[in-house]
Amino acid sequence: MKKTVLDLKGTKGGRLVMLTAYDFSGARLAAEAGVDVILVGDSLGMVVLGYASTVPVTMEEMLHHAKAARRGAPETFVVVDMPFMSYATPEQALANAARLMKEAGADALKLEGGIDALPAIEALVRAGVPVLGHIGLTPQTASALGGYKLQGRDEASARRLLDEAAALERAGCWGIVLELVPAQLARAITEKARIPTIGIGAGPHCDGQVLVYHDLVGLYSSFAPKFAKRYVDAGALIRDAIARYAAEVREGSFPDEAHSFGMSEEVLKRIHGG
Ligand code: KIV
Repeated sequence: MKKTVLDLKGTKGGRLVMLTAYDFSGARLAAEAGVDVILVGDSLGMVVLGYASTVPVTMEEMLHHAKAARRGAPETFVVVDMPFMSYATPEQALANAARLMKEAGADALKLEGGIDALPAIEALVRAGVPVLGHIGLTPQTASALGGYKLQGRDEASARRLLDEAAALERAGCWGIVLELVPAQLARAITEKARIPTIGIGAGPHCDGQVLVYHDLVGLYSSFAPKFAKRYVDAGALIRDAIARYAAEVREGSFPDEAHSFGMSEEVLKRIHGG
């Protein structure tokens, strides 16, 4: 049965499993494998669309992929990322959130940012939209943070992240993604928060974990962050399969009889004029 926001909040102190998926078949595989939550992350900009960052991702692209993922996993809780600049004001956030919820069938939305994102988050929560926060390394604003770097290393930035987590909880987020922060800081945030923390590059003490699908199965080779564990090298398997297909076509062994269709001798004779 599909989980609810209350079920997810109830995973506090447990081990919630979240995985990104961006299309019908990926979402279906994730659902069949039993993940708790699918995230249609704007990481799709990099791993599916080939952009250099998540910044160029548009609302139309998020809608397109979220609809496909929703079709692949109708019984799984699906969170959709709001793309860069789609929630710069509460009004924009409401209009764009309405599309992701109504047209794509999202169960919740994720917004990056701490204090700066509060006006948008508060407006969405007031409107009844379940919101997942995201602090630490926030890829949409990575250039303002000095690149894809560990966050919260020094006292000031660690304190800021603790404050931001508390502010997101007060604003009504049902959970918070912690990206690229020291494990000890993630533990401190997790212990203070009454809502689940979901880590990525945040060590083993969060209430849940999220990974990018393409990192997990080895489909994205441009960049592999230290925290991204590859469970299978599907990229190598697929490349090998394609190379074998090409070789068989070139040598004439595919398609063979097993992959071809026949017709009756009678009809054949007639079309040859017999
Ligand atoms: O876009 C994404 O996939 C994400 C995860 C890395 C948390 O935000």
